[in-house]
Amino acid sequence: MYNIFLEEVDSTNLFAKKILDNLADKSIIQARHQTAGRGRMQRSWIDLGGDNLFLSIVLKPSEKFNNIYSNLTQYLSVVVCKLLEEYGLQPQIKWPNDVLIDGAKIAGILCETVMQGQSFKGLVLGIGVNLNSSNESLNLINKSATALNLLTGHEINTDEFLNKLTDRFFKDYDEFLDKGFEFFRTEYIKRACFIGKEISVQVFNDKKSGIVKDINKSGELVLIKENKEFVLTIGDIL
Ligand code: BTN
Repeated sequence: MYNIFLEEVDSTNLFAKKILDNLADKSIIQARHQTAGRGRMQRSWIDLGGDNLFLSIVLKPSEKFNNIYSNLTQYLSVVVCKLLEEYGLQPQIKWPNDVLIDGAKIAGILCETVMQGQSFKGLVLGIGVNLNSSNESLNLINKSATALNLLTGHEINTDEFLNKLTDRFFKDYDEFLDKGFEFFRTEYIKRACFIGKEISVQVFNDKKSGIVKDINKSGELVLIKENKEFVLTIGDIL
């Protein structure tokens, strides 16, 4: 494992993608500050200050892309939940991979696949965790958000949290690569909110609604509406 620490960068994901050829499998890029943090669906990830976690994990598991890599964000969301449970919290996963505490977001995950022409170069799995913030700073985010220090009542050591997170991520990573989503589906479903509830999902310019029936063997959202089932692979629960 190789670690790079940057005092300030536009985005750890962008940085890792730019120099991917020179990075070994399982490299870790961490920044104290991000000036242009990226989120899912072209959104941004706001820097709430230097004591928060901005991290990208570089993965080069094979020569060719494998569909199970699409489940890496979900695997990481379960790892984050288990770690937050050690702090006495009850995190939930908002499909596909947002981690929430009582409906407020504490961690966001963005995985980017790097291709060169037709060839697969690797993956950059980025995660931001709100570790230390104030209610005033959280108000800068236009959605309900929270931070670990506010929930536990004490300051969180960023390095300690990062080490625990990466240790737990790599502990079962080989098994994940071997078995894919089914390896941790039960653990994911245990923490998934909205199962059995009526929801609306933004899928690019379209909106789908229905009752969440299941998260299937591939980690997709199974919705049911007027007795018809349909499966979503991507989207944003509204
Ligand atoms: C989301 O919830 O939309 C995903 C947010 C991902 C944020 C992290 S912070 C570290 C890494 N670098 C980025 O630019 N984004 C990810």
